[in-house]
Amino acid sequence: MCGIFGYCGKKKAAPFLVEGLRRLEYRGYDSFGIAVSNQGITVRKREGKISLGGADLARVKGTMGIGHTRWATHGVPNDQNAHPHLDCQGTIAVVHNGIIENYAALKRELQDRGHEFRSETDTEVIPHLIEEAFRGDLAAAVGEVIPRLEGSYALLVIAAGCTEMVAVRQKSPLVLGVGDRAFLAASDVTPILEHTERVIFLEDGDIATLSTRGIEIQHGGTGVERPVQRIDWSLAEVKKGGFPHYMQKEIYEQPEVFSLTTRALRGEETPAVLQGIRGVTLVACGTSFNAALLCRYLIEEYCGIPARVELASEFKYYTPPGDYLVVGVSQSGETADTLAAIEKARMHNHPTLAVTNVLGSTITRLADHTLYMRAGPEISVAATKSFIAELAVFFHLVDHLSEGALESSLSTGHLAIGEALLQDLSPAVDLCRDARSMFFVGRGPFYPLALEGALKMKEISYIHAEGYAAGEIKHGPFALLCPDTPVVALCPPGQAFPVMFSNIREMKARGTPMIVIGAEGNQDLQEVSDVFIPLPGGGLVSHVLASTALLQLLAYHTAVALGRDVDQPRNLAKSVTVE
Ligand code: F6R
Repeated sequence: MCGIFGYCGKKKAAPFLVEGLRRLEYRGYDSFGIAVSNQGITVRKREGKISLGGADLARVKGTMGIGHTRWATHGVPNDQNAHPHLDCQGTIAVVHNGIIENYAALKRELQDRGHEFRSETDTEVIPHLIEEAFRGDLAAAVGEVIPRLEGSYALLVIAAGCTEMVAVRQKSPLVLGVGDRAFLAASDVTPILEHTERVIFLEDGDIATLSTRGIEIQHGGTGVERPVQRIDWSLAEVKKGGFPHYMQKEIYEQPEVFSLTTRALRGEETPAVLQGIRGVTLVACGTSFNAALLCRYLIEEYCGIPARVELASEFKYYTPPGDYLVVGVSQSGETADTLAAIEKARMHNHPTLAVTNVLGSTITRLADHTLYMRAGPEISVAATKSFIAELAVFFHLVDHLSEGALESSLSTGHLAIGEALLQDLSPAVDLCRDARSMFFVGRGPFYPLALEGALKMKEISYIHAEGYAAGEIKHGPFALLCPDTPVVALCPPGQAFPVMFSNIREMKARGTPMIVIGAEGNQDLQEVSDVFIPLPGGGLVSHVLASTALLQLLAYHTAVALGRDVDQPRNLAKSVTVE
């Protein structure tokens, strides 16, 4: 949710800023801007995507600068509301990711003292406050202003005539890059990888000063050292590598991601928080929630441990039961609602576990223990390989807690995904592309997959799609079934097969076009389907993994057929850092 990037070095800053913001665009893409310090401060900003219209910004001169790519919260996306924002004199520039909750009161106060505002954003109060506090020492002025700001923020600040950039982290992610005579600051590591693999993760409340001499960090008025860590993601992983879209590349990476994640976890010690657990509450949002929901079926079925799943955004309205282990599931490790849920669990003295993809992310610092997935950087806004990696973590956990219930299937999971990726889905895509509305249905562990299939379809194709437990369809949604509302039914072999098969026939009897995913060679299923998509052989794990890949590909190819912006769907952003 918004990406910020700063460069401080010996070279011209603007080309670094443009490239850095392009890499961060997946965090928000409705407007962009840069500010570079030269004789004064030069600002260039406008509505739109930097990847489509920002090349000219690279011409701005100066060796220190900050940039921003926006996902609007306060004020519509337009040139004025785009960051950076300036003080009255135009000599202090700020970019911000997060929300200043008390901005309205601060703005009134500043206006009363004669400050002139040019935007509708919450951010603009910050340069005006710094303007009042600035007496030549930028870090000191920022330090004076910080206690006045309520909310979440990662900030980068420069001022005319100052050779230093100030970076602040408070409940919004911010990483510093330690390069060869160049220092960088960014919302995440993706734009830094190009320049260095050495990074510093700031802590909440840190104020860092970057200059060509190095980085100094203050916390609560005293100097502190933060460790320099090495990131093992590669530059190749943040490039498209010949694929037309990141999403397709990431879908095709899944066999490897699954194997990498399960192999890595096998080699790790079991977290102490898992010993003797009496129950589990999983908290997550979006795709991670769907993965958590699937995990619940497996934990209860194979481990006999009670499990609940809560939307992280709703968790604050519950009192968590007993002494359950609370597991926060978040690809980014920065989703505000999931972080708030883990904080609440800690307040209630629950043991906590994070499942995440991002080293050093905030959730890893909140939870008692972290299990990392090995998905590598996920750039497409729609989560795909991180979902498979989350499933890999859960399969591993369930296998561990059940003393080997899934073991044999874990080593072959990647093959099932690989087989699914070979399928030609064009007949199914032809059925979906003209639909205005769709349903995805399944039972048992395939119900969360139906939710995930629908989520993928709606977010990238913009076709209204709902995921349902197949048994619920007759309790209302049946009224919507008709010849232009296709249904995707997940009907693998297993306990739910007979009743699922009946459900498919009932829907078919209403003239509903049926896309059915089921066991290869099942004649009865084939006959009742308008389009039949065969699953490879194997058990539950293989069927879950293969179905996931098929649903992702169906959404992807439908969105491509409709000409959608697959990697950056409208109104969305990766990493939702505001509640
Ligand atoms: C959907 C999607 C989102 C995320 C959700 C949680 O494709 O990407 O629904 O799954 O915003 O994100 P994380 O897992 O980073 O907490």
